[in-house]
Amino acid sequence: MSKCPFHSHHDASAVSPPPTLPPVDGWSFLDEAHSSPETAALRRILLSDAARAGAAPSLTARELTWAGRIAWRNSSRCIGRLHWRSLQVRDARHLERAADIVGSLEEHLRLAQGDGRVRSILTVFAPATAGGHAPRIWNHQLCGYAGYRSRGGAILGDPRNAAFTRAALELGWQPPSERTAFDLLPWIVAGARERPRLFPLPPGLVREVSLRHPHYAWFGELGLRWYAVPVISDMGLHVAGTDFTAAPFNGWYMSTEIAARDLTDPHRYDLLPTLAARLGLDATRPATLWKDRVLLELNLTVLHSFEQAGVRMVDHHTASEEFVRFLAREKAAHREVSARWDWIVPPMSSSTTPVFHMAMREFPSTPEFRYQPAPWSPA
Ligand code: ARG
Repeated sequence: MSKCPFHSHHDASAVSPPPTLPPVDGWSFLDEAHSSPETAALRRILLSDAARAGAAPSLTARELTWAGRIAWRNSSRCIGRLHWRSLQVRDARHLERAADIVGSLEEHLRLAQGDGRVRSILTVFAPATAGGHAPRIWNHQLCGYAGYRSRGGAILGDPRNAAFTRAALELGWQPPSERTAFDLLPWIVAGARERPRLFPLPPGLVREVSLRHPHYAWFGELGLRWYAVPVISDMGLHVAGTDFTAAPFNGWYMSTEIAARDLTDPHRYDLLPTLAARLGLDATRPATLWKDRVLLELNLTVLHSFEQAGVRMVDHHTASEEFVRFLAREKAAHREVSARWDWIVPPMSSSTTPVFHMAMREFPSTPEFRYQPAPWSPA
């Protein structure tokens, strides 16, 4: 490799696979779910025979747990995968009616928030049937803020949720009489054989953190806040031919997700210009690095506020180091890691994290979490 100091050093060996690994089929996760190879082999035959005969293969709770954990381990966009083994999987496959699903969602959120300690949890509801019946949670995440679009096109709140907010209003959602940029959204859930219904959140269910800067008292008066735990609820869990279309899961936040994306992306809360003005920065030209300075203060604010509130959160440096440890462990286990550089590398101070200097490659792996088409009709 060239010794040029301006040339980045890509450690391609860290993530690229050895070329000789055997192909992974949809049932390989069974080898990890069972400690005895005989049991794993037997279950593979039973389950794949059932699947071939057109019967819905019925995983044991233990097998479902491992399917969920491995799906996390396979998530090429996730930097937090060192912790994949700690995923707690709740088997709710017997639930397919919205009213029952909602009760279980409340419990999921309570357990996940867990007094700020934040546990990683996956809840798996009834799978899609051959006849096309499938439960769906319409929310992108179990916690989220409304995005109200005004006639002129401006959006109050989170633009990411504008389409969902419209759907909720059409289903009869009554927003607070005084709308704000941080109004918690209700849930919309469709049971497997039901039309979508609106479910207001029990008051106090969602834990939120008010954002306060460690030194600037005025920051608190801006009224900025964020919810404690991201629970992704619109992706499906795909296991060996079965689609679990309602399978919400959560980890804990990395600070940059909120401070360097949600609150600052131009197509989200777009707060950089406002905060620059409050901080008295010269925003008339890029070279004053006003954007970088705001990002730094906002990231400090988010980390400080979550810490003060006792809510678990990881910073991007620690998360990157943990991801490198995950890579080393996977290498030791002779497993390839599928990873997307553009998702893994943190959106701030990227080159100061070890992951920036690595080559990564994405490839299909199973079981996996998948995007699903939006359940509402396009605007
Ligand atoms: N980036 C998303 C957000 O800002 C959350 C995605 C999941 N994040 C996580 N740490 N598990 O809301």
